[in-house]
Amino acid sequence: MSIKISDNIKIGSWTRVVVLTGAGISAESGLRTFRDGDGLWENHRVEDVATPEGFMRDPELVWRFYRERYSHALKASPNPAHFALAEMERKLGDNFQIITQNVDGLHRRAGNKNVYEMHGRLDKCFCQSCGSSYEMAVVNLAVSLPHCPQCSGILRPDVVWFGEIPYYLDVIEKLIQKCNLFIVIGTSGVVYPAAGFVMAAKYNGAKTIGINLEKPRNAEHFTFFYEGKSGELLPSLVRHWLEFSAVDETR
Ligand code: APR
Repeated sequence: MSIKISDNIKIGSWTRVVVLTGAGISAESGLRTFRDGDGLWENHRVEDVATPEGFMRDPELVWRFYRERYSHALKASPNPAHFALAEMERKLGDNFQIITQNVDGLHRRAGNKNVYEMHGRLDKCFCQSCGSSYEMAVVNLAVSLPHCPQCSGILRPDVVWFGEIPYYLDVIEKLIQKCNLFIVIGTSGVVYPAAGFVMAAKYNGAKTIGINLEKPRNAEHFTFFYEGKSGELLPSLVRHWLEFSAVDETR
């Protein structure tokens, strides 16, 4: 697919790239987003399935919801946007880091290692009583409410719910301070703190690029913006950014 590239960014050994991703990057892998017409919350109230209070009220409902999401994520495969980011990490090594709000694991399955899953992971859960952590793969998901094999406490999915503090915020703050190119892909820009990262990166002097199906809420903070599907846009953009050039736009 040929796309109109409007930026003059060239990425080289001088560039420290941080990418923030959201549900949109996994849409072309067949996973539903949260706030589109057919969004994930459609049949459930966020308060019921994505808050600690909802879990206290009806843990079996919450487990049904996350068992289903875990099963969908396992069946999904990374798409060309995930693979394009894996290619960037192969080229840039530790100068390339991903912060993701996604819990589907598709960045790691595409080959990225430098991934901060700030909203947790669908393939893990932990005990509310003793804190022991488990891979979903070894948990008995046939029961309606899984319990901890060590202390019999109630297990919960290892995802960050509304009202809880996302993971890795201290690391993320440092990454944003140090990067000189900040790329945001497939997120509506409404959920904080992630929605504020692009503004922080911009004020720290980074160039900022957005790629999204539609203009996100925080679109004014992007130096360059591409409207469309990330699986179609990103492979060409990555080829363009990685072509070595004497023009050092991101130094
Ligand atoms: N390519 C690029 N962008 C896409 C694509 C696509 N193929 N398909 C959809 N999008 C865009 C949508 O237009 C929307 O702006 O991705 C965005 C997805 O937004 P949300 O559904 O709000 O998902 P996200 O921003 O990741 O949500 C943030 O909110 O509910 C919480 O914890 C949950 O991590 C989630 C957080």
